[in-house]
Amino acid sequence: MKGLRCENVYKVFGREAAKATRMLQQGASRDELPDGVTVAVNDVSFEVKAGEIFVVMGLSGSGKSTLLRTLNALGPATGGKIFIGDDEITAMKGKAMRELRGSSMSMVFQHFALLPHRTVIDNAAYPLEIAGVKKEERLKRAAESLKTTGLEGWENNYPSELSGGMQQRVGLARALTADAPILLMDEAFSALDPLIRRDMQELLLEIQEVKRRTIIFITHDLNEAMFVGNRIAVMRNGSVDQIGTAEEILTNPASEYVERFVQDVDRSRVITASSIMVKPRSRLYRGDGPNVILRKLEETDSVGGWVTDGGSRFLYGSIYADEIIAALRKNPHLNSIDDLIHPSHPGVGPDTPLNQVVAPAANEQATIPVVSDDNRLLGVIPNVTLLRALGQDDEGMAVDLSAASAATPSSATSTTATNETEGVAEQSEVSTNDIEEDK
Ligand SMILES: Nc1ncnc2c1ncn2[C@@H]1O[C@H](COP(=O)(O)OP(=O)(O)O)[C@@H](O)[C@H]1O
Ligand SMILES: [Mg+2]
Repeated sequence: MKGLRCENVYKVFGREAAKATRMLQQGASRDELPDGVTVAVNDVSFEVKAGEIFVVMGLSGSGKSTLLRTLNALGPATGGKIFIGDDEITAMKGKAMRELRGSSMSMVFQHFALLPHRTVIDNAAYPLEIAGVKKEERLKRAAESLKTTGLEGWENNYPSELSGGMQQRVGLARALTADAPILLMDEAFSALDPLIRRDMQELLLEIQEVKRRTIIFITHDLNEAMFVGNRIAVMRNGSVDQIGTAEEILTNPASEYVERFVQDVDRSRVITASSIMVKPRSRLYRGDGPNVILRKLEETDSVGGWVTDGGSRFLYGSIYADEIIAALRKNPHLNSIDDLIHPSHPGVGPDTPLNQVVAPAANEQATIPVVSDDNRLLGVIPNVTLLRALGQDDEGMAVDLSAASAATPSSATSTTATNETEGVAEQSEVSTNDIEEDK
């Protein structure tokens, strides 16, 4: 296994990049530099230990991707030294540099970068094909890494037949097949839906347990950084503001910029819909016939569920087993569920704070759909989960119970809620009053 080290690395773009880099090294400020140069990486130093997950975090434009490209010399540094293990890649040229890159590092990109006309296994085997490994051997190793990323059975499909999350699993498998000790990941999960993204973060940690690599992981999301990273470097405007563990960064932010990141995390501790949603118990598609839907509901012991498009997961509405059975009794040849879908739903966006999520009435759907801007079903919040979460969050509860009881004067919901949240009810007079009034 190999570590990696940067010493005073600079990357300047523009015709006079070399001159500008020298000036910076001699202490010039940015305004003194020649016109037309961009300083993307400015005097960055850090060391990544072998086997560590090192996160580079910062706002868009702070220089993260550019820094990453200096590490594998795809966009070589204009100043400073970079060591891959014991080899200084910044002192190498041509073949030696390409060999070091090829044998030591592989990369996972945000937009997967899969070859569309090759099957999943050929994509996963690609780095070995480039390296001239024989077909049988490379397919064997690609199949192994596909198994590691949970894609067994998909070997002969094409990328376009896979969801975004699965395509990124292929991207990860491809990087694993290369068997390089260092993995460079540039916003690899940033384009994925929240639940899938969490799955991928967990998968990465699982893989890291068994196939330990040195990983440089770039993200603009502190929650993700804290979840995957052993240590985090926070970049601003080309420089590193702070390097530390998540705990150090949370408790002792080195600059106002870092502090703002930390506050963002605190704010997101106000629980949002996406942080408690789960996968729907059954996947019901609009193209399914009534008997298929019944079978699916039976399998998960549900009285109803949310109907989506099979591909895009566009949410159409809810459907109930008892109504399907009644309809089939009237018309045994019924082959479409279209007339049985209840089109309205109380969907919420993934970033909706929990205290604005209104619990549905007890006799309706037992879950609340969480939908994207374009109305795709991202996940569901079971009613019980909502009530339990609110019970743990007194501030949220105060607002929510009034909202819930206002929306459902039938009182079924608010009664349940009172029981669930009894322990904290006395701390929050607003909600108690509201419940009393409602009764
Ligand atoms: N090829 C390039 N030529 C000129 N400027 C560039 C080039 N690539 C990146 N930059 C600039 O460098 C800065 C850092 O960009 P980047 O590394 O992509 O940031 P991040 O990945 O953190 O969003 C930005 O100001 C960007 O415009
Ligand atoms: Mg970037």
